Amino acid sequence: MANSNGFSYFLFVIVVMSVAATSSDALSTTFYQKVCPQALPVIKRVVTDVVNRERRMGASLLRLHFHDCFVNGCDASVLLDSTSTIDGEKTAFGNNNSLRGFEVVDKIKSEVDRVCGAQVVSCADILAVAARDSVVQLGGQTWKVELGRRDSTTASRTDANNALPAPFMDLPALKTNFQNVGLDETDLVALSGGHAIGYSQCNNFKNRIYNESNIDPLFARNRKLTCPSSGGDTRLAPFDPTAAKFDTLYFKNLVKRRGLLHSDQALFNGESTDALVKKYSIHAGAFASDFAKSMIKMGRIKPLEGNSGQIRINCRRTN
Ligand code: HEM
Ligand SMILES: *[C@@H]1O[C@H](CO)[C@@H](O)[C@H](O)[C@H]1NC(C)=O
Ligand SMILES: *[C@@H]1O[C@H](CO)[C@@H](O)[C@H](O)[C@H]1NC(C)=O
Repeated sequence: MANSNGFSYFLFVIVVMSVAATSSDALSTTFYQKVCPQALPVIKRVVTDVVNRERRMGASLLRLHFHDCFVNGCDASVLLDSTSTIDGEKTAFGNNNSLRGFEVVDKIKSEVDRVCGAQVVSCADILAVAARDSVVQLGGQTWKVELGRRDSTTASRTDANNALPAPFMDLPALKTNFQNVGLDETDLVALSGGHAIGYSQCNNFKNRIYNESNIDPLFARNRKLTCPSSGGDTRLAPFDPTAAKFDTLYFKNLVKRRGLLHSDQALFNGESTDALVKKYSIHAGAFASDFAKSMIKMGRIKPLEGNSGQIRINCRRTN
């Protein structure tokens, strides 16, 4: 018998590609490897220097990337100054007198362009890398940043007003807000962990500490010491007691009803996200891994690729 050994044929199964369904078409972690291998090390050096000088700047840089991505995608629209034709996003509700770090981005851009010897690195990618390097410098998780975004030639204050989440939102509004940019409930909880670092101004949590009942009374009393019921609107309070350390104290505090913003406590208020908040408060590894995943996902929101947009020479202006 010709087939006595039972094997007449070999079946070759060739797996041509194994690409996650959610992965972007063109963004790639090695985008600058050939054209400017020094780009990422230079961004890291500047971010590390700046954050070591002022820890809060790490928080401010993380927030810049978030506020960029939520408004018509990660395209550096947030960095454009207003002109006669551009309705800048810097004065939108969540941004005006609040966003920081624009000078740091300028510094990174000029150093990167100098080292690369050409304008090849986009402002949008600089924001994504600076956010990651900031988190790492403050003790958080690292991840590989996908790159190849290009910069917008437009901005919209109206779109920023509509797209950015507000601190007085309840859970359903927050979920809708994130759904609008393709992010789910897990992304909402994980990314809110960005409030592991940085500060809020008094006007954003005043109503919470004076009027809300789902709050630890001792925490409320302490916050009132520096945030009066009238006036003092720009006084700062840390989101958690370790504002310069990317840890899980933010989530531990939510479980104790010590969320600073109404929108922070909304994540632990007897609804569907309680379990995930509890999990992150106990398992630092679970938070670290989900935060990294969600940051990559946020970084994929509507990037300009290929020949769309431009590589800005100055992050504040179109070419
Ligand atoms: C879930 C909805 C969110 C709301 C309603 C919200 C709201 C706010 C508000 C009101 C502030 C204080 C701004 C000020 O007083 O000047 C703030 C700060 C901050 N936010 Fe959020 N945020 C949200 C999500 C996020 C996400 C997803 C990230 C990043 C992944 C993030 C990162 C930060 C950081 C790091 C700061 C501190 C910035 C600094 O100290 O300069 N936030 N946020
Ligand atoms: C932004 O804040 C400044 C005060 O620093 C204020 O004069 C201006 O009207 C604000 N812009 C908007 C659009 O609210
Ligand atoms: C507390 O709530 C009342 C009634 O809504 C409001 O008038 C007041 O401004 C709030 N207090 C603070 C500090 O926000």
